Amino acid sequence: MAPSTLTALAEEKTLQASFVRDEDERPKVAYNKFSDEIPVISLSGIDNGGEKRAEICKKIVEACEDWGIFQVVDHGVDAKLIAEMTRLAKEFFALPPEEKLRFDMSGGKKGGFIVSSHLQGEAVQDWREIVTYFSYPIRARDYSRWPDKPEGWKAVTEEYSEKLMGLACKLLGVLSEAMGLETEALSNACVDMDQKVVVNFYPKCPQPDLTLGLKRHTDPGTITLLLQDQVGGLQATRDNGKTWITVQPVEGAFVVNLGDHGHFLSNGRFKNADHQAVVNSNSSRLSIATFQNPAPEAKVYPLKIREGEKPVLEEPITFAEMYRRKMSKDLELARLKKLAK
Ligand code: SIN
Ligand code: FE2
Repeated sequence: MAPSTLTALAEEKTLQASFVRDEDERPKVAYNKFSDEIPVISLSGIDNGGEKRAEICKKIVEACEDWGIFQVVDHGVDAKLIAEMTRLAKEFFALPPEEKLRFDMSGGKKGGFIVSSHLQGEAVQDWREIVTYFSYPIRARDYSRWPDKPEGWKAVTEEYSEKLMGLACKLLGVLSEAMGLETEALSNACVDMDQKVVVNFYPKCPQPDLTLGLKRHTDPGTITLLLQDQVGGLQATRDNGKTWITVQPVEGAFVVNLGDHGHFLSNGRFKNADHQAVVNSNSSRLSIATFQNPAPEAKVYPLKIREGEKPVLEEPITFAEMYRRKMSKDLELARLKKLAK
């Protein structure tokens, strides 16, 4: 039976069987063997126009073409706000299990606390607890699902959400212009852009080599901004998914990921980064992922098809349908894998 929280399991010497992954899925590279290959881009001067802006935009576009993942610093989000958000998130996960479970999301509730894989009902569990809330569009805010502890959570998370929405739109503006479109093209294609924040807590793990904090995936949405602490654990791939690298944590930076929606809208020009999170036995880890997604009814189809290119999608579909297909493909792959055993 899957646990309600990971607190008790983190104290045990061996990993509960439900977290043990098949060998091919287990971590290949250590959580702290950092690579500096993923570009780190300073956004200082991006709002000033001219050559400086052009230079920064070029770096962002190249990073999206080569990796679909990069880090930004000097992004304009106040360091104090980031520190507050991190402090509150840590305090939330340190609450006793019964306090966290007051916001239990089991049974399809939208937002709250959960041990992540209970959400998808998957066979193997991720070594991760999450607290999540829907912040945009504003009418989607259901404050009864936002934690009321620690004190100050609502005000800080609201401000954080607003600032990250601004940063995400700025980055989408750069990518729209790179596609030869008006600055708002990608944001407009999201219709009423959704924002969902997922705060991830990965406790110390007794046998981290056998499991993952978050299994390999691409994000479904347009763009994701991830704040991570200095522990390390986010891994990305290169060489078409053959080689794993651990992303070097950079103090105060956001890791930016392009998701499937961004990939399709650019007709495959911008990569949707393949990534996962590994855990360790030395310390817990915290990360905060802000997902910028299109509205469920938004149309998914390339905004621009360059000469000589074929569209990556046969026909326009809604984002809800794109997501449904992604999930059923994942389930089918898991089923085939089980049959092959
Ligand atoms: C995510 O992919 O949403 C989180 C990855 C991480 O915690 O590093
Ligand atoms: Fe992700």
